[in-house]
Amino acid sequence: MQHTVTFPSGTVNYAFQCSAEELAQHANNRPIVVVTDEHIAGLYPQLRSRFKTLTVPASENSKDIRTVEKLAGDLLQMEAGRNTLLVGIGGGVVTDITGFLASVYMRGVSFGFIPTTLLAMVDAAIGGKNGVNTGLHKNILGTISQPEFILYDTNFLKTLPGEEWSNGFAEIIKYACIFDAAMFEELTKHNIGYYQGNYASLSDLVEKCVHLKNKVVLADEREKHQRKLLNFGHTLAHAVEKLYGLTHGKAVAIGMVAACIISQNRTSLDEAVTLKLKSLLQQYGLPVRLDLNVENVMSILKMDKKRTNDNIDYILLEAVGKAAICPLPLAEIEHALISYERNH
Ligand SMILES: NC(=O)c1ccc[n+]([C@@H]2O[C@H](COP(=O)([O-])OP(=O)(O)OC[C@H]3O[C@@H](n4cnc5c(N)ncnc54)[C@H](O)[C@@H]3O)[C@@H](O)[C@H]2O)c1
Ligand SMILES: [Zn+2]
Repeated sequence: MQHTVTFPSGTVNYAFQCSAEELAQHANNRPIVVVTDEHIAGLYPQLRSRFKTLTVPASENSKDIRTVEKLAGDLLQMEAGRNTLLVGIGGGVVTDITGFLASVYMRGVSFGFIPTTLLAMVDAAIGGKNGVNTGLHKNILGTISQPEFILYDTNFLKTLPGEEWSNGFAEIIKYACIFDAAMFEELTKHNIGYYQGNYASLSDLVEKCVHLKNKVVLADEREKHQRKLLNFGHTLAHAVEKLYGLTHGKAVAIGMVAACIISQNRTSLDEAVTLKLKSLLQQYGLPVRLDLNVENVMSILKMDKKRTNDNIDYILLEAVGKAAICPLPLAEIEHALISYERNH
């Protein structure tokens, strides 16, 4: 099942319920170089035997400009020219690095993705944002450019560890909170075990998330207004992720709870919603609290990409399925974090 979506920066061909075996069809005789991580290369040795393959260590720490430089050197050594098709096969770390590398190598070569984590399938591979971190700051260097194609092969999920399923559900729960109360209700009725045993429902859920994200990115690819909504939970998540060595999904879960607590004061969100969200996150194996050092967190938050002057565009909830962009003064966020730290 294929469909194409044309964004301002490029057209993406989405191939759902597909097999990674179909990759060669998308190359149209161009030379393919696969980028993956060492963990996936070990689990799927056929990748290395079929394609020229570059690997990075399986870690968020690989999202670093030095990795991009090293990979560019490897591409030169392989004599990879501008007609090369780079294909990122992996989780969000691999897709973020591959998209960035492809958009700067020789001023831009074509690229595609085969996401292999649930998180990358529903979020990281979609939308054209790619990039690397700088020190403790997430995604500081990057570009917006769309992959030519995204191939969905859910068979990869058979080897995905349970913790990574939870991380993927953090982003799925995020979509439900900001856009889709019915999806939120559906999620409350199931758990990870249900979706692991029911790939048809899982594929439906993945496609629904792809559709929700594409709709927002189509309207606002460069994040001037409504794309900001997708950052629900992410302002705090990006500040604590590297600081406390959390996975992205866990950091987002904690960030969503904090955003709900701030919403209770700012948008009069019913406290019952915060409690429902907490219990849903726990149902999917995600954390809902974190002991944090407010001063350290604030020093990272100050460099948030959503900051203008002394305000950060914080994404708050008004109800399940309804989010709003609220410019919050840094001092108010600091105050909220102090009371979160004391009371949660
Ligand atoms: N560009 C975007 O719009 C966007 C959106 C959301 C998240 N992200 C980024 O994505 C990253 C997180 O992505 P992630 O959660 O996929 O993490 P990840 O890429 O680190 O993958 C998590 C782990 O799962 C392993 N793995 C991957 N596929 C596997 C499989 N099929 N079987 C077994 N193991 C497998 C990996 O080797 C790794 O150890 C973060 O850096 C985050 O900032 C980007
Ligand atoms: Zn995210």
